[in-house]
Amino acid sequence: MARTSPVVNVMQSAARKVARGLVRDFGEIENLQVSRKGPGDFVTNADTRVDRKLRELLSQARPKFGFLTEEGGAQAGEDGGRRWIVDPIDGTTNFMHGIPMFAVSIALEEAGNVTAGVVYAPITDEMFWAERGQGAYLNDRRLRVAARRDLQEAVIATGIPHLRPEATPGYLPELRAIMDECAGVRRLGSAALDLAYVAAGRFDGFWETGLSPWDVAAGLLLVRESGGMVSRTDGGTDPMEKGDVLAGNDAIHTRMLRLIRQARRPGPATG
Ligand code: IPD
Ligand code: CA
Ligand code: CA
Repeated sequence: MARTSPVVNVMQSAARKVARGLVRDFGEIENLQVSRKGPGDFVTNADTRVDRKLRELLSQARPKFGFLTEEGGAQAGEDGGRRWIVDPIDGTTNFMHGIPMFAVSIALEEAGNVTAGVVYAPITDEMFWAERGQGAYLNDRRLRVAARRDLQEAVIATGIPHLRPEATPGYLPELRAIMDECAGVRRLGSAALDLAYVAAGRFDGFWETGLSPWDVAAGLLLVRESGGMVSRTDGGTDPMEKGDVLAGNDAIHTRMLRLIRQARRPGPATG
């Protein structure tokens, strides 16, 4: 049986508390008032309410910690070395459309390193969590990344840069290269769950760029703690800082990195 530390208990209990409201909202999604944050990027009452509630709950438990949250921004705490990195709902578009693939993501960063992470999917009631050096778990079950080493047998998740037209010409050759070599590509719509699914061995790999720290802080720890590899898509070692993520077991990660690099290489000049 997995033993959760006091800080992970705080994170799990905060996630479960806000999730109750999300499950209710999900059931009557049509009653939600929606405002536009940007084209195609909706922020709901639920996002801001859950963000505020999580800050309240986490502050009650650890009053000195700071915050970086999607809806509340950065707030310095008395304890300069520790902060919570929070995405109240990762997968808002899914949530708004009645698609159950969304999650609450909470990470604890200490002295610049993420040391604990929780990704909780309210509808499936799946609690993915990890502590640095202690492994990753789904509820009570220890997680390991998939053992498949052959990309041809692998299911790979991605995020499509649909609001960044400047990224499309670069992305499509990567998608082409990977879809031609693997068993299937999936676009779930929640980067936190994409990473949690890699940690659980459901997906063999994942790549996406243009992400924010709150999308991936907890999920990257889940993958690392389940024995997976994480990097930037160019192989760099700071995926969270750059919001540029490639994850998988070592063999799949290496193979994907090679394919992405090839896809990015400029082609021969024409004309
Ligand atoms: C989004 C999801 C999505 C990813 C987007 C994110 P949100 O987060 O993680 O999978 O492709 O880039 O912005 O807006 O639902 O919190
Ligand atoms: Ca997000
Ligand atoms: Ca969000």
